Amino acid sequence: MKHLIAPSVLAADFNKLEKDINMVNESLADWFHIDVMDGHFVPNISFGMPVIKAIKKVAKKPLDVHLMISNPDQYIEEFANIGADVITVHYEACTHLHRTIGMIKDLNKKAGVALNPHTPVEHLKDVLEDIDLVLLMSVNPGFGGQKFIYNTIPKTRRLKDMIIVKNAKAQIEIDGGVGLQNAEKLLQAGADVLVAGSAVFKSDNPTSTISRLKNIGKEIYEV
Ligand code: DX5
Ligand code: ZN
Repeated sequence: MKHLIAPSVLAADFNKLEKDINMVNESLADWFHIDVMDGHFVPNISFGMPVIKAIKKVAKKPLDVHLMISNPDQYIEEFANIGADVITVHYEACTHLHRTIGMIKDLNKKAGVALNPHTPVEHLKDVLEDIDLVLLMSVNPGFGGQKFIYNTIPKTRRLKDMIIVKNAKAQIEIDGGVGLQNAEKLLQAGADVLVAGSAVFKSDNPTSTISRLKNIGKEIYEV
């Protein structure tokens, strides 16, 4: 399957959010990546429900909501109600991860689990078949525009092997410091979804950057 591109709204210009959302609507991007930060699980606060509701009104593509928050169980239903299509919680924030995944699935949403750079993919062994997506953080979560952590590439390969061995269906999403310079390596390692914030919105031509990211490694699929 061809990989998906999920521009991260965190890097958009909030003074002209509607314009940036429409740019993504008209581009080759597949999802909107929405970063929710609570100032507790991560050392930064981004935005919450009112902003997501406003995005949903304009967005014509699925909302991929990445919850960098403590105690996500408390808010999952509300995120589902305001239009999240994929709900990703952090492994490190969930004491009863299996129950949390069940809550997301019961709401008929795609369930994702995110891993911080220090968390081994092997920790997901016993839930891999229950989830739709694994998000590998390739920076420490909390801020856009950080440097990509190279270990994410072998980590992606290890996760891909686990998925193949288990014949699981989970997609692999990579988030943080992703751009034209490392996208091909990530796709070769097994990534299915690339999140790109700064690489898209801070580029001279965001629409064309999205097309270039989407078209990278075409030969991977065509052989
Ligand atoms: C970081 C967020 C990322 C961020 C990526 O905590 O989860 O989604 O927006 O931004 P870039 O692509 O600029 O690293
Ligand atoms: Zn994110």
